[in-house]
Formats: sequence, C-alpha cells, structure tokens
Amino acid sequence: MVGAGANHGADMGSAPAIQGYFKMALERTFSIIKPDATRRNLTGKINAKFEDAGLRVVAQKRIHMTKAQAGVFYGVHAERPFYDELCEFMSSAPVVVQVLEGENAIAKNREVMGATNPADAAPGTVRAEFAESVGENSVHGSDAPETAAVEIAYFFSGIELVG
Ligand code: CDP
Ligand code: MG
Repeated sequence: MVGAGANHGADMGSAPAIQGYFKMALERTFSIIKPDATRRNLTGKINAKFEDAGLRVVAQKRIHMTKAQAGVFYGVHAERPFYDELCEFMSSAPVVVQVLEGENAIAKNREVMGATNPADAAPGTVRAEFAESVGENSVHGSDAPETAAVEIAYFFSGIELVG
C-alpha cells in the first residue's frame, strides 16, 4: 500500500491488516505423538491427519522423556491408578512433541484424535486407526486453553514457535 490514508477501503484490505485480523482467531494447542506411534513409524501419517484438518505444525521435536519428566507432565493424573504405567509408557521410547495452530485448534485436535479409548473413537480418527489400547493411544492433545499454555511452555521456548 503506497500513500497511507489515500484510500481507506484498500487500506483495510492491505496484507498486514488482514493478516492481523485472521491471526486473532488462531489458537495453539500442544500435541504429543506417543511411543506406540513413533515405534511403528506413524509420525508422518498422524501429521497428515492434522494437516488435512487444517492444523499447522508450528513447532515440533523428537525427544525421549525420562520417567520423571513424564511424571511432571501428567501430574494432574498423579492419583489415578494408571499413572505409574502411563509414565513408564511415555518414557519407554521417543515421542514427538509439537504445537499445532489453527482455528479452534484445541477442539479441532481433540476431534481428529478421537476418544481416549480407541474402542469408542469415531471412524477416521487417529485413535480409531492407530491406537493399540486405552493407555497406548498414539496421541496426546491439550484439553483447554490454560492447559495448552502450560504444556507448550513445558517443552518449547517462544523462539521455537514459528507460526
Ligand atoms: O489423553 P486424553 O485427554 O484423551 O485422556 P486423559 O483422561 O487425560 O488421560 C491421559 C492419558 O492417560 C490417556 O491418553 C491414556 O494414555 C492414559 N489413560 C490410561 O492409561 N487409562 C485410562 N483408564 C485413562 C487414561
Ligand atoms: Mg487429557
């Protein structure tokens, strides 16, 4: 846009203004491709489902968590009977931690993931297609904006998030 203020109609549609507007509607969520999936080389197939649903991978790395790191991450479940087994599993092999961005990314990702128990997961979801059991269910996804923010900050610094 040359000559700012010369034409307000065109100004409204200029690239920075319109990008700023749409960015406001974007949300970020935290995702993990779990050990059962990395073991079976399913990272690409799972990412394809996210991308097909309009989610963008804006940060991603492969790590191998210690049991203690998994324990902190799943601290909210510390009193649940499956907690120890879950932390064992999450530290049993590498995982891919990632940040997904898109409109309503938190809810959309939960939709693409499917229900926690693959027996209840809708056809076409990641868990329906790939999960091995209720515990080894291929993916994690944040459940609310507050948890998404905490979970993203646990694994990524701001400079690693490239939207
Ligand atoms: O992952 P999601 O948010 O769908 O389920 P959750 O209730 O937050 O549980 C976290 C994780 O714990 C699940 O994804 C499973 O890996 C595990 N889990 C389990 O092993 N047995 C259960 N009965 C429930 C959950
Ligand atoms: Mg959960």
